[in-house]
Amino acid sequence: MSEFDKEVRPLVAGNWKMFGLKAALEQALQVRDTVSAEGFSANTDVMICPPATLVMVLGELSGGSRLLVGGQDCHAAASGAHTGDVSAEMLKDAGAAAVIVGHSERRADHGELDRDVQTKAVAAHRAGLTAIICIGETAGQRAADLTLEVVRRQLEGSVPDGATAANTIIAYEPVWAIGTGLTPTPDDVEAVHGAIRVALVQRFGEDGAGMRILYGGSVKPGNAHELMSIANVNGALVGGASLKADDFLGIIGAYSS
Ligand code: PGA
Repeated sequence: MSEFDKEVRPLVAGNWKMFGLKAALEQALQVRDTVSAEGFSANTDVMICPPATLVMVLGELSGGSRLLVGGQDCHAAASGAHTGDVSAEMLKDAGAAAVIVGHSERRADHGELDRDVQTKAVAAHRAGLTAIICIGETAGQRAADLTLEVVRRQLEGSVPDGATAANTIIAYEPVWAIGTGLTPTPDDVEAVHGAIRVALVQRFGEDGAGMRILYGGSVKPGNAHELMSIANVNGALVGGASLKADDFLGIIGAYSS
């Protein structure tokens, strides 16, 4: 662990993406009940970000438990004529504590640029939500040795000036590792997370030292412990493996002492 890690409480967050009908809530409730049992990775925050249709019901079902609920995206405005969009205020009202912004699938599918992501993070803060801001290089950028440059640029452009350790979480997700079963080597993860930490401390001082930096991309029960033990890795953003309670709990269990 690096000197920066000591005071940073980890977060394991599940990103359900566009998966999950009502029946999937059963998995979330199993997570809620297991993590709420005394002593289960008690030093760790646990969150599920279901599709927008399930945020309110999961918010109600998890109220008063250790399970936090998050959204997967938000519009920059609080309200308005934006058919199909959901605002940060609406997510907050539905019981969310956080919202993911700038996921690579949003950047790729909807052409979101760093400045859009930054505006959404500002919206999250305005609504009282924690912004989970995603960054990460493509396979081509890694092959061209551009990883650190890309990640620093995304960080600079996507994280707003008002970011604090309390209202902002960074998720480093190499695009080529998402949903592929591939992960960077521990050395590569350490190098990127270390560079992110340095950039955050330079820009935000103490807040940058305390900001959580999650790793995301093919986190599974079998690799979670190794990945979560790396310096400046303060938790995980989990896609596929968050859909099944047993797998997700296996990952959260990496933090059991
Ligand atoms: P994955 O997705 O765990 O399925 O690779 C991670 C993510 O996209 O957040």
